[in-house]
Amino acid sequence: MVEVGFVTGAIGRSSLVGFSSRNNERAVQRRGRARVVMAYDGSPVKVGVLGCTGSVGQRFMTLLEDHPWFDVVGLGASPRSAGKKYNDAVSWKQASAIPEKMKEIVVSECVPDAPAFKDAMIIFSGLDNTFAGDIEDEFAKAGKAVFSNAKNHRMDDDVPILIPTVNASHLDIIEAQRKNKDIPGFIITNANCSTTAMSIGLKPIHEKFGLEKVIVSTMQAISGAGYPGLSSMDIFDNVVPHIGGEEGKMETEAKKILGTCADGSFQDADFMISAMCNRVHVIDGHTEAVSMQLKTKATPEEVIDAIRSYPSIAKSLGLPSAPAKDVDYNDAPDRPQPRLDRMVGNGYTVTIGRVRECNVLDIKLVLLGHNTIVGAAGGSILNAELCCVKGLV
Ligand SMILES: NC(=O)c1ccc[n+]([C@@H]2O[C@H](COP(=O)([O-])OP(=O)(O)OC[C@H]3O[C@@H](n4cnc5c(N)ncnc54)[C@H](OP(=O)(O)O)[C@@H]3O)[C@@H](O)[C@H]2O)c1
Repeated sequence: MVEVGFVTGAIGRSSLVGFSSRNNERAVQRRGRARVVMAYDGSPVKVGVLGCTGSVGQRFMTLLEDHPWFDVVGLGASPRSAGKKYNDAVSWKQASAIPEKMKEIVVSECVPDAPAFKDAMIIFSGLDNTFAGDIEDEFAKAGKAVFSNAKNHRMDDDVPILIPTVNASHLDIIEAQRKNKDIPGFIITNANCSTTAMSIGLKPIHEKFGLEKVIVSTMQAISGAGYPGLSSMDIFDNVVPHIGGEEGKMETEAKKILGTCADGSFQDADFMISAMCNRVHVIDGHTEAVSMQLKTKATPEEVIDAIRSYPSIAKSLGLPSAPAKDVDYNDAPDRPQPRLDRMVGNGYTVTIGRVRECNVLDIKLVLLGHNTIVGAAGGSILNAELCCVKGLV
């Protein structure tokens, strides 16, 4: 077996002080005793999943079932589920069957010293916001690399909201985070699901023409509210024009994600944004209608060209879950649609359509992203894969 950082106890108490990356080969220096020079060889990394019974947690189960690098060794949920086999604890709502190898795992309480998490290097968190912040802190203090879907740490000054195709350079903040928080592990967050789809979709346009103003109206799927979410009496035959806290999240998180990271701090992107969020009668997939004013004027054809020619960054970084294209354009006049397009790129691709002139701002379009795959569990998995490739795990 090739000796690799995470196999030899990589993140633990020893602190990473620098790495360089070339063809996935990296030299890792650590304080104290000399460490090996390593090449990531895809050896299995043990992982735990917190919030394993929820909407995001169940998606983690399906995406990790046959993952080439990650091996699920521990599952955590509330004290109501702890002590039960996963098969008995979960109310399974996915279209595919419960993965066989997960069924018999006994769910633990979400504490880092539980035997189930002892050997896990990576902790994926699909925890409810009410509890996520403190629990994730405890796991990072215990030396784990925590990949969170919750809002609690997203706007911390030293925590990235990471999307590999948009802002992989924001990983540079981790060294500052470990220093500031004096922790051997670290926390990396995902954006709120509607913000992730919008940030991926707008990145090629922002990079080429610069965003000045953005107005977005969302049509968000029911699964975004978790399980059991809204009652059928509330959502059937209906649109609910309010999702608690969602508009504020879109307006703040997108500017952090599309901003820069330098010298141990983030600088927000300098565009204005207004969001209107609606829950609609769709199971999975958030659709968003976006109008924007650009710093450099562009025709619809130039915007479409910027989207189509945007490189497949996650794939080029060697991330095994990466889709062929992170963002793609569908030129049919009535696409994207959630039922038809949410599984493009196995749910990891954001699809854009209907780019046209806007009579008020410059350009308007429709974009769609799968909320529990690229917008949640899949996004966390890509982030963890990126950390493996970059030598942080
Ligand atoms: N759904 C989405 O599309 C989406 C997208 C992006 C981000 N998010 C975020 O991801 C997180 C999870 O969302 P979700 O939709 O999956 O929620 P959910 O379906 O309500 O699941 C919540 C999970 O948290 C666990 N939990 C509840 N109380 C707990 C406690 N006291 N201690 C430990 N675990 C506890 C639950 O376990 P039990 O089953 O045992 O109660 C369950 O596994 C939230 O922070 C949400 O905002 C969701």
